[in-house]
Amino acid sequence: MTRSSVRFLHRGEVVSLTEVGPNETLLDFLRLRRQACGTKEGCAEGDCGACTVALGTLRDGRLEYAPVNACICLLGMIDGKELVVVEDLAGPDGALHPVQDAVLRHHGNQCGFCTPGIVMSLFTLYHAGGRPDRQAVNDTLAGNLCRCTGYRPIVDAALEVCTGAPRDTFAARSAATAESLAALDDGEDLFIGDEATGFLAAPATVDALARLYARHPDATLVAGATDVGLWITKQMQALPKIIHVGRVAGLSDMRETERGFHIGAAVTCARAEPAMAAIDPDLVELFRRFGGKQVRSVGTLGGNIANGSPIGDSMPALIALGTTLHLRRGEATRSLPLEDFFIDYGKQDRAAGEFVTGIDVPRLGAGEVFRCYKISKRFDQDISALLGAFRFTLEGRRVTGARVAFGGMAATPKRAAATEAALKSLRLDDPDDWEAACEALAMDFQPIDDMRASARYRLETAQALLRKALHEAGGEASAATRILGLRPEDTERAA
Ligand SMILES: Cc1cc2nc3c(=O)[nH]c(=O)nc-3n(C[C@H](O)[C@H](O)[C@H](O)COP(=O)(O)OP(=O)(O)OC[C@H]3O[C@@H](n4cnc5c(N)ncnc54)[C@H](O)[C@@H]3O)c2cc1C
Ligand code: FES
Ligand code: FES
Repeated sequence: MTRSSVRFLHRGEVVSLTEVGPNETLLDFLRLRRQACGTKEGCAEGDCGACTVALGTLRDGRLEYAPVNACICLLGMIDGKELVVVEDLAGPDGALHPVQDAVLRHHGNQCGFCTPGIVMSLFTLYHAGGRPDRQAVNDTLAGNLCRCTGYRPIVDAALEVCTGAPRDTFAARSAATAESLAALDDGEDLFIGDEATGFLAAPATVDALARLYARHPDATLVAGATDVGLWITKQMQALPKIIHVGRVAGLSDMRETERGFHIGAAVTCARAEPAMAAIDPDLVELFRRFGGKQVRSVGTLGGNIANGSPIGDSMPALIALGTTLHLRRGEATRSLPLEDFFIDYGKQDRAAGEFVTGIDVPRLGAGEVFRCYKISKRFDQDISALLGAFRFTLEGRRVTGARVAFGGMAATPKRAAATEAALKSLRLDDPDDWEAACEALAMDFQPIDDMRASARYRLETAQALLRKALHEAGGEASAATRILGLRPEDTERAA
């Protein structure tokens, strides 16, 4: 069955839209079609958070709210969700929402441009129902820029109001909302437009996706649109055929396997966090610095891999871990080591009509140690200058095997073959023994100069990261080598 409307829940009512342009953003829908101008446009590229709205999703019977940048979210992507925007927060009598009230009392509302987005981010934190500390609040606000540096009162407001179970009108009607969202989940394919001139499609099954993409290999696949959205808003590209993969049931699976975790191509970075945490704490730190919450709540690992940027963050870590990539084209499926997918800058081993279905990420085995480090100019929400990931196999105090991968050092995310060879049988207790491996990095990579870093900085920093990883693998507490992101064992040692 095929449906030709986008349906979502807003203010307790089902909104059904039959006229939806494939490139229409949620922000344009709100501001231009609905004149709901509380949601602001700042950067139009997912960076500033002024356009933050909350999307409610039913997951395992639980209603969850996630912050999303409306400027780069395509309207078709909100099918089946609840939309909450800043105008919806005040109660029927005009009373401020508890989050708005706290922000106001703490003098956290300032220029008026950033405040709506900040309030919406805090709304999602309020609905998470926990008791976040200052760091958790800062993490929530990492995707909301405030250039007047009004963060302290905003954080104070969040610490006061985001405590325990939510007690607002959204919480009061959450059972009814969940029921309405369950009713919207009809399992039908969505298709608006026509196959000749252009369309917005959101298939519900992998088979339907495979058929449609085989017929239209020139279509643009969209998962979270945190890359594709910018092609529309910044590069002004017209993408006449859009296939959204976010509703495809089989691509949203994440499950534990005998060897590790299977993560479907449409699983968002936010949803993948528990699997990453189960593999290694460094992956938690890496994912915490992957965009802001707005980016992680829709951006996917599948999109990161398929985009294949040389400075994409997940790939070096996943390559070092030994991840397998799964692809499908029509009825045919195939799998390959992730590193083999990246051929050259902007070129991946993917045929027309072929799509990523998921990845298998192995756990670390006995005697294996993993480390990864992101180097960027800002700590939060910044693009990597380089990223190094290391998996060492140890026998006693000797390295017997290594997988090393870097981002930002070549035209693609890439394994360091010469370095890996030089690491074999190296002694952890003898730092002089490590220099041959550090020198080998110069054989593996001839990095470029660009505005993020010079070639020399990149190479020297990559060598420093390798030394740091070896120090830490040798038992040096990360507390001595890190500013943030202590591993649990280091926290114990430091205590
Ligand atoms: C503000 C901001 C901050 C960011 N920060 C980071 C960061 O810190 N680190 C980082 O690595 N990236 C970052 N990004 C980039 C982006 O968020 C990631 O690359 C993200 O993983 C893309 O996932 P997506 O689901 O949004 O992909 P989309 O934008 O939907 O798609 C990306 C590409 O993948 C293709 N694609 C999507 N799904 C499939 C599929 N199943 N099969 C085949 N092709 C597919 C699309 O056609 C497109 O070519 C940031 C982006 C923004 C806007
Ligand atoms: S307008 Fe800046 S993130 Fe959307
Ligand atoms: S609140 Fe807008 S710049 Fe600070």
